[in-house]
Amino acid sequence: MIEVVPRVEDRHGRVAKPTAAHPPDSRPDEVLVGGTNSAFPLPLEGCIERGAGSRVWDEHGHEYIDFLLASGPLILGHAHARVCDAVAQQLSKGSAFHAVNRPALELAARIADIPGCVEMVRFASTGTEATLHAVRLARGYTGRDKVLVFAGSYHGSHDLALIGHRGPTMARGGGVPRGVLEDAVVARFNDIGTVEDAFVAHGDSLAAVLVEPQHRSVDPLPAFLPRLAQLCRSAGTVLIFDEVVTGFRLAFGGAQEYYGVEPDLVCYGKILGGGFPLSAVGGRRDIMTLADPALSSSPNFVHVSGTLSGNPISAVAGLATLAELERPGVYERLHGLGERLRAGLAREMRVHDVGGSVIGSGPIAAVKFSETRRPGCDALLRETVNRELIHRGVLVQLQTKFYISLVHTEREIDYAVDAFGAALG
Ligand SMILES: Cc1ncc(COP(=O)(O)O)c(C=O)c1O
Repeated sequence: MIEVVPRVEDRHGRVAKPTAAHPPDSRPDEVLVGGTNSAFPLPLEGCIERGAGSRVWDEHGHEYIDFLLASGPLILGHAHARVCDAVAQQLSKGSAFHAVNRPALELAARIADIPGCVEMVRFASTGTEATLHAVRLARGYTGRDKVLVFAGSYHGSHDLALIGHRGPTMARGGGVPRGVLEDAVVARFNDIGTVEDAFVAHGDSLAAVLVEPQHRSVDPLPAFLPRLAQLCRSAGTVLIFDEVVTGFRLAFGGAQEYYGVEPDLVCYGKILGGGFPLSAVGGRRDIMTLADPALSSSPNFVHVSGTLSGNPISAVAGLATLAELERPGVYERLHGLGERLRAGLAREMRVHDVGGSVIGSGPIAAVKFSETRRPGCDALLRETVNRELIHRGVLVQLQTKFYISLVHTEREIDYAVDAFGAALG
């Protein structure tokens, strides 16, 4: 018998969609664009259902050792007891106030205590906002428009942050206005000559240099960041360290501490919110105070704001995370695990005669397949190996990096290395 579904119209005369047109067990690609939440999809079947420690489980019951760690925030692993307790306690007191709250204030003080440039802080929710706000502060401070970024960099999803991604003049993807391209100057990381040339050509119109001090897992050459800082100082250009990845990861004091170079502004994200949405821009008082609302009627005022910025849930999760990271021996452990993983992955590449390298430092490892040994096949090989790793229960995004947490074990690292070898073989 054919079921007759009554035609239901709303008060504007629009025909209502049948109920449960998209039932709760819909496939991801039916309602999520590309079946994903990000521009870097993973070949997973269906949804991740839960996580505990270094593991996650999908809705089909498959278990994975997680080297994605939510794209980096979960340096303590999933559902860490102290983070969960702190969040549960705060939840019952209220999740968001917009107004200043004690946990956010405490966290800001914690950041300002880190040796380096941060004297004052403004919170936001994502790394994208942090880099956006930092650049705006630099432009407001200098009265200049141009910003130097590095080819291949990633600073989030705002227009400027996507420049240089696929080459010197191109943005990553469409929708980025030409005007933004005109205000961007692109140099090459670790190639100080290209930076010096950019300063000769644009020095007096450069508002900022926006740099990931560990650029897409590539460590800076020893003289690179100091020289960059020197060039910025002489030209009156604001040096912004995007520490969304490196902050609290390479060292408690992030890249500033690890590489011993002090910028003017720093952007934090990921680890800062302990797995909840939180980021911050911090830096020199004379730059940061441009965002002081007391200046709002002055032409120098810089707007930096957000509805959930500095919400207490993320702040308590961040404080609990930082407290764990301050325990003795934490960074030795994270660096030791990182070295073990990098050495293992590099060994497997040699054994299987696959050209390329393993880069990164601290609890970060990234695999770069070379194009020369297998011409044109690096991306394809990466995709195949990534699929195989996931099939073998190792959740990682090879396009970006392996993130390592404090709860990963040596056995899990060795398992991932063996799976990588098997995937190459
Ligand atoms: C270095 C860097 N900056 C900024 C961002 C943007 O952060 P979010 O995704 O929280 O907007 C990312 C994200 O991965 C990043 O790696």
